[in-house]
Amino acid sequence: MITLNSSPIHAVSWKLADDRSVRIDIKRDDLLHPVISGNKWRKLKHLISDAQQKGCLELISMGGNWSNHLHALAYAGFSMGLKTRALVRAHPDQALTPTLLDCKKWGMVLEFTDRKTYAELRQKISWDSFDSEYPGSYWFSEGGFSSLAIQGVEDMKAEVDCKYDYIFAGCGSGATVCGLARAFPESYVVGVAAFSGADYLKETLSQHLKQAGRKAENWAIDTKHHCGGFAKSSEELETLIEELELFNSFKLDPIYNGKTFLALNSWLCSATIPSGSRVLVIHTGGLQGARKT
Ligand SMILES: Cc1ncc(COP(=O)(O)O)c(C=O)c1O
Repeated sequence: MITLNSSPIHAVSWKLADDRSVRIDIKRDDLLHPVISGNKWRKLKHLISDAQQKGCLELISMGGNWSNHLHALAYAGFSMGLKTRALVRAHPDQALTPTLLDCKKWGMVLEFTDRKTYAELRQKISWDSFDSEYPGSYWFSEGGFSSLAIQGVEDMKAEVDCKYDYIFAGCGSGATVCGLARAFPESYVVGVAAFSGADYLKETLSQHLKQAGRKAENWAIDTKHHCGGFAKSSEELETLIEELELFNSFKLDPIYNGKTFLALNSWLCSATIPSGSRVLVIHTGGLQGARKT
């Protein structure tokens, strides 16, 4: 069984924020666990309990070559004695990335799919729709987006004592931002899309939050700081990460958390965030995906 403590909140040292009289804190979810760090365990914990309660024999999900989600799922399965399987968007002849080598080491069965099959898999949202192909399995949709994952993120509420005007977090499937918007109705939650063409997320989140009875829109998706696409970078992004890492004790992956700060940088520069505001950034982990070896 995996038990995690709560993660600490630290003040971020950043000249731009000081100049704008904005206080920035960071919730260090990257410190939650050496492997299942960031938003991973928050999103997985209720889903894994559900799978166990349903007596499922195997946990199945999908992801790319460097997927933080698959990495965390493989480790969770390994340490809890559960079988795991991944449908990976990659060619079988390609050398395995360090992420997939870890997954394999932890016993995850890797099946490779082409782009077309992978796109079809994205439509398989529910567990039932998958059960006929992999009997007895429990299906986690891409990035783990589901009510139970969102509930796991909402649990973070109990760990945050003070009121923040803004909360920023990286956004992929949107589950994390959904959970934050639900947990912190008094804050304005900004999800920073890590990839281009993420406008559809606004509709996904809007629908989900309306169904959950949320009337006021206390959230936004920033779609302008993906640096050209998923896992793409820019000089501005690299320089900002370097500056923040120099004055703080955390490391930032360029895929999610670096871009979150890049967006925050521009919200500060344009004075969209008024002086005197308090901002919380959620460090969603993901450093394994930024490994070179
Ligand atoms: C490190 C990291 N941060 C943020 C996200 C985005 O989370 P979500 O899919 O809940 O939007 C992901 C993707 O799962 C991630 O791996």
